[in-house]
Amino acid sequence: MNSLRQGPGFHIIVEPDHAFLALRGARLLVESASLSEKRWGEFRVAISGGNTPRAMHALLAQEDLGFKAPWENTHIFWADERLVPYESNFSNYGAAKRDFVSKVPLPRKNIHPIPVKGRPEAAAKAYEAELKRALFSGSQSRPLLDLVFLGIGTDGHVASLFPGSSALEERNKWVAISKGGNPLLQRVTMTLPLINQAAMVVIMASGRGKADIVKRALVDKEGSLPATRVSLKGGRVIWLLDQKAASRL
Ligand code: 6PG
Repeated sequence: MNSLRQGPGFHIIVEPDHAFLALRGARLLVESASLSEKRWGEFRVAISGGNTPRAMHALLAQEDLGFKAPWENTHIFWADERLVPYESNFSNYGAAKRDFVSKVPLPRKNIHPIPVKGRPEAAAKAYEAELKRALFSGSQSRPLLDLVFLGIGTDGHVASLFPGSSALEERNKWVAISKGGNPLLQRVTMTLPLINQAAMVVIMASGRGKADIVKRALVDKEGSLPATRVSLKGGRVIWLLDQKAASRL
């Protein structure tokens, strides 16, 4: 394993393959959860959809492998959601529920899926209200979110913040509506004003299909890409890659 340290708030970690990527991601979550619980009494994490995190999610259900997070004191949120029923194969909440959320002792009240019923604007508004309720409780000096996991699309999108979208340009709201991605669906997404206040963001990329966009973000440093606009005020951004995704660095 090759680990490149890039500075106090920015790291690139390269793992040999997708399985090691999943292990490292799960370890980062468990470590961050334990530290946050010690410090703040609870852990707040937001996760993304797509294929990349699914192996990591499956590991989180495996306490016997040592992935023991303080679930009773964990709150889980979604960075974005496709507006389809939770039972759909395209639902981010549905996938995470099947992979680990239903298998770990997370209290029901600590699970905060993005609402998918009704008009997209109403779903976004309701999730913003839910986030404010959940994140403004507790110490005012703690970060709003302890950890956010993001994937990256081949166009550089993260969450459902697509290049050229109004959601990407949002300056105030924490949640916005958006349309795009594969499958092309109406979506609700956290925005940069919220994501950039997190204590730590992990951007995961796996496979040769991501090598170009990872190079554009990390070598060419294209500042207009949604992924490079993830820039934390006081926190850490970690790019967690496998060797194929890192092959053009
Ligand atoms: C979604 C996402 C999205 C995803 C990327 C990468 O719901 O589609 O949250 O931002 O993370 O598109 O997707 P893959 O992991 O499938 O490549």
